[in-house]
Amino acid sequence: MTAVDEGRAGDASLRLLAAGERELQRIVLDMHDGPVQDIFAAVSHLQVLQRELAEHPEHSRRAGQAVQLLERALGEIRTLIGVFRPPGFERRELGAILEGLCVQHEAMTDQPVELTMDAGLGDCALPAKIALYRILQEALSNGHRHASATRQTVSVERRGARIAMTVADNGRGFEAPPVLAAEADVGVEGGHFGLRGIQDRVAMLGGTFALDSTPGQGTVLRVVVPAGL
Ligand SMILES: Nc1ncnc2c1ncn2[C@@H]1O[C@H](COP(=O)(O)OP(=O)(O)OP(=O)(O)O)[C@@H](O)[C@H]1O
Ligand SMILES: [Mg+2]
Repeated sequence: MTAVDEGRAGDASLRLLAAGERELQRIVLDMHDGPVQDIFAAVSHLQVLQRELAEHPEHSRRAGQAVQLLERALGEIRTLIGVFRPPGFERRELGAILEGLCVQHEAMTDQPVELTMDAGLGDCALPAKIALYRILQEALSNGHRHASATRQTVSVERRGARIAMTVADNGRGFEAPPVLAAEADVGVEGGHFGLRGIQDRVAMLGGTFALDSTPGQGTVLRVVVPAGL
């Protein structure tokens, strides 16, 4: 099965990409400074209460359960923050950022990621860098979540003024084209936004997107985007 999509970039689209990322970072920071600190404080209060209720075992047990629930929520929020935290897009070059993401994915999933990168890859403009990072993040996540793959490979190369990135896995693959979220479903729980998001990002940059899959053999996702420098 193959899907190919091409788009044309406009200045407004490029600004939108960078603005979307800035907004995401603001939400991540708000989450860290707001709810995370509040939950942390609530856990401390509840722990004190739990100790003070030592003579009322049933109440103390309930307080303990509340502490556990809040700690689990904290853990989940922290993981989300870790996933969405900006990797220093402005400061670091494309290669270093993508390599860092592969290492992070390996650590989180215990699954090897084999990365091949052009020695002369060089850097690219901010919108392309952000897009390639988020696309790789989603592609690796899909490979891990859906494919039951034992191996994922990533290759990144420069083709003149363009950058080509290929993400492959040796997992189960799929027969029919995967379900993509419809415009109307954006924000609806349970939608499939990942591949749609990849297509949108590539289209905004004026790049190309292709998804090839063979049942039982795996999936290959290829994107080519203008480096934009
Ligand atoms: N590497 C892959 N191997 C096998 N199936 C895949 C792979 N990538 C995607 N799919 C299939 O395509 C579907 C759509 O993927 P997509 O990333 O759009 O949504 P999702 O991963 O289900 O949800 P979301 O990304 O919104 O969390 C998946 O549900 C899965 O069935
Ligand atoms: Mg997905």
